[in-house]
Amino acid sequence: MWPFDGQAPSLWLALYLLTFALHAVFVSYVLAGTAYALVCNDAIAERVRDRLPFMLGCGITAGVAPLLFLQLLYQKQFYTANLLMGPRWGAVVPALIAGFYALYLAKAHVRERVRRLALGLAAGCFLFVAWSWTELDQLMQDEPAWQAMYASGRRIYGAATIYPRLLLWLGAMATLFAIVAAWWSTGGERKRLAVIGLAGRAVSALAALWLWRAGGTVDAAAHGWGYLLVAALVAEAAGWIWLLRSPDSFALSLVTGSGAAALLCATVVREAPRLALLDPPRASAMEASGFALFAITAVVGVAAIAWIWRAISRA
Ligand code: HEM
Repeated sequence: MWPFDGQAPSLWLALYLLTFALHAVFVSYVLAGTAYALVCNDAIAERVRDRLPFMLGCGITAGVAPLLFLQLLYQKQFYTANLLMGPRWGAVVPALIAGFYALYLAKAHVRERVRRLALGLAAGCFLFVAWSWTELDQLMQDEPAWQAMYASGRRIYGAATIYPRLLLWLGAMATLFAIVAAWWSTGGERKRLAVIGLAGRAVSALAALWLWRAGGTVDAAAHGWGYLLVAALVAEAAGWIWLLRSPDSFALSLVTGSGAAALLCATVVREAPRLALLDPPRASAMEASGFALFAITAVVGVAAIAWIWRAISRA
C-alpha cells in the first residue's frame, strides 16, 4: 500500500512515521500541558505539573529516532536547511534546557507568581522549538529558496505556510494532550478535557483552511490516507461527545483508538509532498546490510526503556 510499496525505502519510512507519531504524543503533552498548567489551577494542572519534566524527557528521547531516520531519508535537504538556519536553529538546544529547568521550578514549592513565571517561560521555549521544527520542515522542501537565503544571510525562512501549519499543530497538540491526560482523570475532569479535545480539533480545522489559502495542498497520492484521516476524526469527535455525556464509559478507549488512527494517517498525509525529494538508493547502500544488528539494538533499546519505565513507576 502506498507509500510502503517499494518506491521509497519502505522500512525506514515506516519507522520514521511511527517514531515521529510517538514523538508527537509526548511533545503535545508537554506543550499543551504547560499551557494548561499556566492558565488553570485545578487538580488536572497539579498532576500535569508533576509529570511535565518526565514527559519532556520522553519527548526529547522519542525525538531522536525520527531525527535519525529523517537524516537517513533526506540527507541533502536536512543538512542544507540546518546550515541555512544556522544559530537560529542551534538556539533550539538552549531553549530546551531553559524549558526543562523552568518545569522543575514550576513543580517545586515556590510562590504562585514564580510558578506562573516559570510555566510562562517554559511554554515560550517549547513554542519556539515547535516553530523551529515547522520552519525547518518547510525550508527542507523549498530548494529554489536556498540560494537566495544563503546570499542574503537571512536566518528566518518565513514562508506563508509556516504559521497556519504551526497553528494546525497547536490544535492537534491540545487534543493529544487531552487524550493522554484523560487517562489520569475521572468524571468532571474528563468532561473538561473533552471540551479541550474538541476545541483543539476545531482550531486545527480552521488552521487547515488557512493553510490551504496560503498554498498548502494534499498530495494526490495521499488522498486515500486523507479519507481515512477524516473517518478517524469523525469517530474521535463522536467519542468525545459520548465522553461528555458519560465520562467513565468505553468512550475514552474509542477516543484513544480513533485519535491514534488519525495521528498515523496525518503523518502519512504530512509526509506525502516530501517523498518526491527522496533520492534512489545507491547500489553500495543496497548491498550493505546491518539489519540484524539494527533489529537487535532496537529490541535491546525498547527493553531498556520498558525496564526504566517500570522501575520509575514502582519508585
Ligand atoms: C518540547 C520540545 C519539542 C516540541 C514542542 C516539538 C515539536 C515538534 C513539531 C510541532 C514538529 C512538527 C513540525 C511540522 O510538521 O511542521 C516536530 C517535528 C520533529 N521533531 Fe520535535 N519538538 C520538540 C523537541 C524535539 C527534539 C528534542 C527532537 C530531537 C531530539 C525533535 C525531533 C523532531 C523531528 C525529527 C521532527 C520531524 C521533522 C520533519 O519531519 O521535518 N523534536 N517537533
